[in-house]
Amino acid sequence: MKPTKLIRKMLKTVLDGCSKVGKTSLIMSLVSEEFPDEVPLRAEEITIPADVTPERVPTHIVDYSEAEQSDEQLYQEISKANVICIVYSVNNKKSIEKVTSHWIPLINDRTDKDSRVPLILVGNKSDLVEHSSMETILPIMNQYQDIETCVECSAKNLKNISELFYYAQKAVLHPTGPLYCPEQKE
Ligand code: GTP
Ligand code: MG
Repeated sequence: MKPTKLIRKMLKTVLDGCSKVGKTSLIMSLVSEEFPDEVPLRAEEITIPADVTPERVPTHIVDYSEAEQSDEQLYQEISKANVICIVYSVNNKKSIEKVTSHWIPLINDRTDKDSRVPLILVGNKSDLVEHSSMETILPIMNQYQDIETCVECSAKNLKNISELFYYAQKAVLHPTGPLYCPEQKE
């Protein structure tokens, strides 16, 4: 386990996920409290000061852009993260499939087995669909212990945006499930 003291100093939240699912828009919506019509490929790394975060912990938020970053840079960010939000788009089946076929294995390969980082599944663009993606997501949640929680949100109508970053803080500071599973250790 990572020492709590270290986590309390600064919490690093990394947003990963397929291209165009809205990672950058989510960060910009959180910061400016409005949906940006145009976003850069990658948001600048920002730090939310402790006094405006629900858990009073300064929080770094790190965006990922496949177009702007190498695999090596991605792996480095993953290894430094305290919590990782895997973003998919609720109207894009492929982006949901890639949560299990691509993102979770990639993250597991790059994080220490004894101190796995908590994961949060984030279904963005909920404004575009009537139905929920939860039916597809729940079996994934049951399959992978490292997934702390899931949330559907919309950067466009600002639904569940602050909640998402609150869940990320909570996942690190008050994890609900064991991130370390003794039976699975060789
Ligand atoms: P890459 O940087 O290319 O990996 O994409 P990204 O995941 O950062 O997505 P980005 O924020 O650039 O958004 C992609 C497109 O989706 C843009 O046209 C956004 O305006 C749109 N978009 C983002 N969030 C939402 C949302 O909640 N609802 C809707 N309707 N569109 C969104
Ligand atoms: Mg982006």
